[in-house]
Amino acid sequence: MFKKSLLIATLLLTTFTSFAQKGYTPSAGNLDYRKQFQDNKFGVFIHWGIYSMMADGEWVMNFKKINYGEYSKMAGGFYPSKFNAKEWVSNIKASGAKYICITSRHHDGFSMFATKQSPYNIIDATAFKRDVLKELADECHAQGIKLHFYYSLLDWGRPDYNPDEPFVVKNEESKKAKWETYHQFMLGQLRELLTNYGEIGAIWFDGKWDKPKDFNWNFDEIYSLIHSLQPACLVLNNHHLAPLEGEDAQAFERDLPGQNTAGFSADKTISQLPLETCETMNNSWGYNITDLKYKSEKELIQYLIKAAGNNANLLLNVGPRPDGTIPDIAIQRYKAMGEWLKQYGETIYGTRGGLVSQHKWGVTTQKDNRLFVHILDLQDKALFLPLTDKKIKSAKVFIDKRPVRFSQSKDGVLLMLDKTPDETDYVVELGF
Ligand code: GLC
Repeated sequence: MFKKSLLIATLLLTTFTSFAQKGYTPSAGNLDYRKQFQDNKFGVFIHWGIYSMMADGEWVMNFKKINYGEYSKMAGGFYPSKFNAKEWVSNIKASGAKYICITSRHHDGFSMFATKQSPYNIIDATAFKRDVLKELADECHAQGIKLHFYYSLLDWGRPDYNPDEPFVVKNEESKKAKWETYHQFMLGQLRELLTNYGEIGAIWFDGKWDKPKDFNWNFDEIYSLIHSLQPACLVLNNHHLAPLEGEDAQAFERDLPGQNTAGFSADKTISQLPLETCETMNNSWGYNITDLKYKSEKELIQYLIKAAGNNANLLLNVGPRPDGTIPDIAIQRYKAMGEWLKQYGETIYGTRGGLVSQHKWGVTTQKDNRLFVHILDLQDKALFLPLTDKKIKSAKVFIDKRPVRFSQSKDGVLLMLDKTPDETDYVVELGF
């Protein structure tokens, strides 16, 4: 009886883990980078590809039902004459972000790097013929900022991505297509990305949700390859589920951990792994010429703070224009965030989500024996914190160290402020 249930349990476990990296033990370097990644708190996401020419987001081919053969001809006209990796990195660094995650290949299947796995790439299919990812990687390494690569599992153009139900191409080629060639294509590209661009902080997968839940992606082989080439490289997968074995961090799309306002995170699991929330600055990932609905400086700064309070990083997106420049509003927003971080960075970088969870008034972050109370929206001159298991020794306004009056009872701590806070973030530092 016992043997039988053991057998069933083993079988179940094998079936489940066959979708991930079996028996994965992160290397010491990987654990180090997980910590550094969490300390870094803020990254910039970049969605850039030939779709930027249509200036209608990265899903334009799909939304407008554009024929793939015709769409791919756009590559010949892609010439981002103003692309300057040095300027990108300098502007991004000014935001206070500590890492960059850029699309190496999105769902349209176009590779923004020199790949030998397909001629549909920036070197072979454009007149520009410059490996923008290499230029960016060299610049990131020179300016000391980490680089992550977004990689789409989904491909709208390759017949071997969808051998059973060809999406766009319905011809003899698609009838003969096999998943195995697509899988090998991905492995080949990942090998290039992790061999030719120096140290890569993470591979950020997207698109798993495109296939049925029980589809076997053979992540075992994909994740093992990544960890064998660069053991410290983090694997993140934007599959909107609890992390699978072999993943090193958990991604949340347009939502803070545990929330599901955007509708992608029905599975509300929050794992013990480092957490990262990605969000757009306007409403689009890829460049969108009509979407000028940028979130305000205050909203963006407060979202970064809320992410930190929820123990997560913020990966804030920008979609560069087809000429290779970053939209001016985005540069302004990043600059404002950087200026705020110059003053308040100590309450964000290197912290973890604080003892008091998110409330309507704000969040808390924590570092050693310091608790930072981030007051984002309060109508009163006093704030009650349900903080019962720590004895508070001191309270001060973070920015000028003015003492804050407080009283502690068995129910919690009452902070008595000398005004109703009205700034983007009024930070009170508690010591215990
Ligand atoms: C979604 C979209 C994709 C975008 C990603 C970023 O998965 O399909 O276009 O790159 O979100 O989180």
